[in-house]
Amino acid sequence: MSLKCDVIVDLQAGDSGKGKIANALAPYYDGVMRYNGGPNAGHTIYIGDQKVVTHQVPCGVFHNKPSIIGPECVVNVEELEAEIQMIEDLGFEKVRELLYVDYRAHRITKEHLRKDKSDSVIGTTKKGIGPAYADKSNRVGLRVGDIPESKQTFLVGDVYDIFYGSHYTKYFSPEWDRDYTLLLAEGAQGYQLDINFGRYPFVTSSHCVAGGVCLNGIAPRDIGEVIGVMKAYQTYVGNDKTWCKSKDPALKEIQVAGNEFGATTGRERKTDWLDLDAIIPACKISGVSRIYINKIDVLEGVGKFGVYAQGLNNFSTSKNFVNFVEAYIYARHPKVGIIWSRSPKTV
Ligand code: IMP
Repeated sequence: MSLKCDVIVDLQAGDSGKGKIANALAPYYDGVMRYNGGPNAGHTIYIGDQKVVTHQVPCGVFHNKPSIIGPECVVNVEELEAEIQMIEDLGFEKVRELLYVDYRAHRITKEHLRKDKSDSVIGTTKKGIGPAYADKSNRVGLRVGDIPESKQTFLVGDVYDIFYGSHYTKYFSPEWDRDYTLLLAEGAQGYQLDINFGRYPFVTSSHCVAGGVCLNGIAPRDIGEVIGVMKAYQTYVGNDKTWCKSKDPALKEIQVAGNEFGATTGRERKTDWLDLDAIIPACKISGVSRIYINKIDVLEGVGKFGVYAQGLNNFSTSKNFVNFVEAYIYARHPKVGIIWSRSPKTV
């Protein structure tokens, strides 16, 4: 048995609709893994008509698939317990059996939350992410496996055993007709918030790009397709004052029509035209082979279209906008498939 892992990455500053794409693709995989970040993420998905916002639990649990929080993540165990409870209350009773946290994932403590509350520079989600990763790097952090009571909430173990070792078949059922296990790795936040490639210091503290997956014990040669997700415009939450370039009043309409308010903090998301010159490096560095572009319906509803591509270009029709965006991306990052999505619930 071998492993093949496809990856979902956000090509912008988070909130591009990765959750929807992961939830739509999860049924085709044997398991789902979250590979970076913690409860700073807010993944909005629809289970039928029911809107659900998750923060730490990978969406595989909604499809009866083993769901793994990898060792490169940070975990708030109390919040995770509340999230598990919320999912159980929705009728998904097997969450605790399906959810598995690597023992090396670091815990977010009350002290981390206290420190993050006083942040006034970055505009963090105040979820203790930076302080938890700082303690990890300082080698004074607390790992999930260090605290025995964690084991009551979820399965604690070792991703090596899951992916390559003896526990493989315990987590992945052997019934499929192929000689490899297919894993979907979903990222949190996005390229512009990546600790290395984002707009430092206005970034999160983890590795959002596809390479971040390998930090969770997935060998580079086991990575298959990399699926990039973006919106037809872009949004950002945080204190980077240089972020929004345009003052076009249409952007306010787009913000409201697109309901651009944070799923984790409720904060207003600054809204700007799509920046293709920031998308191209995001595609290259993660090596994306397929791109989903969400919320084109929002621009169509407002009837205004804009895109930064070596300067601002405005369009009055969706067709011209779509053609321009596709041609610009294909010319600079060929051999990629582009899929436009018009629904908040499905692809
Ligand atoms: P932190 O991750 O809470 O430390 O916040 C650092 C920056 O990342 C801030 O600008 C946050 O608003 C932003 N951020 C963190 N998580 C998300 C997310 O899931 N979506 C969008 N922005 C996020």
